[in-house]
Amino acid sequence: MVATFSTVDHRMRATSQIHRIEDKATGLEGVIAIDSLTLGPAAGGCRFWRYESTPALHADAVRLARGMTFKNAMAGLPFGGGKAVLQMPEGPFDRAKLFAAFGEAVQALKGDYISAEDVGTSVADMEAVRSRTAFVAGLGRDEGMAGGDPSPWTALGILQSMKAAARFALGADLSQLRVAVQGAGNVGTHLCGLLARAGAHVIVADIDPDRARALTRLDRVEAVPLDALLQADADIFAPCALGGALDAESVAGLKARLVCGGANNQLANDAMALELLDRGITYVPDYIANAGGIINVAAEYLGETAAQVEERIGKIPSRVLAILTRARQDCCSPALVADEMAAEIIASGRRMAA
Ligand code: NAI
Repeated sequence: MVATFSTVDHRMRATSQIHRIEDKATGLEGVIAIDSLTLGPAAGGCRFWRYESTPALHADAVRLARGMTFKNAMAGLPFGGGKAVLQMPEGPFDRAKLFAAFGEAVQALKGDYISAEDVGTSVADMEAVRSRTAFVAGLGRDEGMAGGDPSPWTALGILQSMKAAARFALGADLSQLRVAVQGAGNVGTHLCGLLARAGAHVIVADIDPDRARALTRLDRVEAVPLDALLQADADIFAPCALGGALDAESVAGLKARLVCGGANNQLANDAMALELLDRGITYVPDYIANAGGIINVAAEYLGETAAQVEERIGKIPSRVLAILTRARQDCCSPALVADEMAAEIIASGRRMAA
């Protein structure tokens, strides 16, 4: 069983590539998008989701891979940016075989792309990938070492970013604030737990209401219907579902004064950064706040310890504050400041201190 593997010929930038992967026997279908190899092999998770169309899947992969380039650069990691996006088959399929076939496609890139979990994939899926390639992380981990499910680390980085941004933008501690969390998946669930422990009041919603309801076992966590979340009386909005949560309609109706969450590509388009600025809503760029997961994945891949992961995640809030401070001084969007900083690092080809 070999995944049919081809490189589509639309190259976007010097090192950017889209590799289409397909294996009819297992139902594997999708792409591996490599955005940049400037700082090292392209590292980024594997998304397993049902897309309406192939162009929609390709567009998501390209955008997610670009986000990984910026995220890895700003986190000081020796990696470029890439992402795998796989179409979830309509009918029944053998999950382990499908991810093993994906592993073959990863192996065929000879280390240019390193995979891990993202939306819809788990440690078990990455173990199946591992059966065919060593270019994967997010596997089971040994005591004291980095590795395993990255989402608790992602949530920790978001919590620390949120604390710093709340003090900067709202002059308040999380225990005085209400946080609306969109998405009760891996990241959202861990974040709700950390927020509840920090004394925040949490309002959570998910397209699967049972997932949100399950979190109400925690103190100070309430579940609301999806359409009530954005208008909920909250100080902070934490998008932790799929991308594009911040579009013209949601930004216009948003009650929160600060946005800080885990989802990749939270802005539906670049104009939303200005809409948020106009409305006086502080935006913590997604790929700065949610870097904890890839920091853990990178450390696992490099054979580092959990203590090193924690130390690196502890540096995220100072990046958040540097970006918010420069944005305030220059009266521009934090998204623009972060993109400029990341582009400078990549252009110089030099890694930032991790
Ligand atoms: P997940 O698949 O475990 O959870 C996603 C959740 O969002 C699911 O519960 C799903 O039902 C829900 N959802 C989907 N559409 C929704 C909508 N319109 N409104 C409300 N809920 C909706 O995925 P995970 O791992 O929690 O990732 C969440 C986000 O964080 C994604 O954007 C991912 O790319 C990003 N991220 C995840 C990292 C990780 O460590 N897992 C690392 C960095 C970013």
